Amino acid sequence: MKNTVTTFQKAKDEGKKLTMLTAYDYSTAKIMDEAGVNSILVGDSLGNVILGYKDTLSVTMEDMIHHGKAVSRGITNALLVIDMPFMSYQASVYDAVINAGRLVKEAGAMAVKLEGGSVVCPQIQAIANASIPVMAHLGLTPQSINTLGGYKVQGKDEETAKKLIEDAKAVEAAGAFALVLECVPTKLAALITETIKIPTIGIGAGASCTGQVLVYQDMLGMFSDFSPKFVKRYAQLGEAMREAFIEFCNEVQDETFPSTAHSYGISDEIMERLY
Ligand code: KIV
Repeated sequence: MKNTVTTFQKAKDEGKKLTMLTAYDYSTAKIMDEAGVNSILVGDSLGNVILGYKDTLSVTMEDMIHHGKAVSRGITNALLVIDMPFMSYQASVYDAVINAGRLVKEAGAMAVKLEGGSVVCPQIQAIANASIPVMAHLGLTPQSINTLGGYKVQGKDEETAKKLIEDAKAVEAAGAFALVLECVPTKLAALITETIKIPTIGIGAGASCTGQVLVYQDMLGMFSDFSPKFVKRYAQLGEAMREAFIEFCNEVQDETFPSTAHSYGISDEIMERLY
């Protein structure tokens, strides 16, 4: 079944769970779509897991469009959400609408995601008014790493917890269709999910959120630069890949690959005429 912003809201209203995974290329997106994931996020986490940056701040609109286009070709049913990278929406409402529009027109986004609470509500409202669904993102917002002072749990004291609740209400009022909560205490995320009508998608925010999102390299054990507590490893593909690469190198060296099973034949008669 085709996933849309309407089916997202329906899931929240009916108490059903939503699934979301990140993807950055065609083949992975296709497998996820076939597996029935509700939504695929081209996250700016591609800065970390694909491009090898230490944070997401260097990711550009061109990076997001390039990877977004590839992912969109692999999707049939999942809702494609593409992240707005750092400085593509913060400076002005005009920038925000133009860049959100580029993600839709050039990369095939069905919705965009941006980070922040009340300060970005004018942007959320303007993008939503341009008929582009907006997913908000609160809690640990990696684009604010330099002001947050590190990747840590957000909303643990009364003041910051109240601010998160206010921001969640503000992004909903501004027109966001869903809200990602990253690295937020489980009970606070549950309270926010109860308080607002739109679905919440948690990452390190406990089981009460309407849905869950993970970065696929994290869940498959393919990224070892850092591993947050909230990541569950569903497979050890990094290890399996390393073993396969070693085996390939060994087989090429000892000439067991390629065997006849992986090679093409030609008749002896033709070969004789070539000498
Ligand atoms: O960039 C990303 O992958 C994200 C998810 C972690 C929610 O924003």
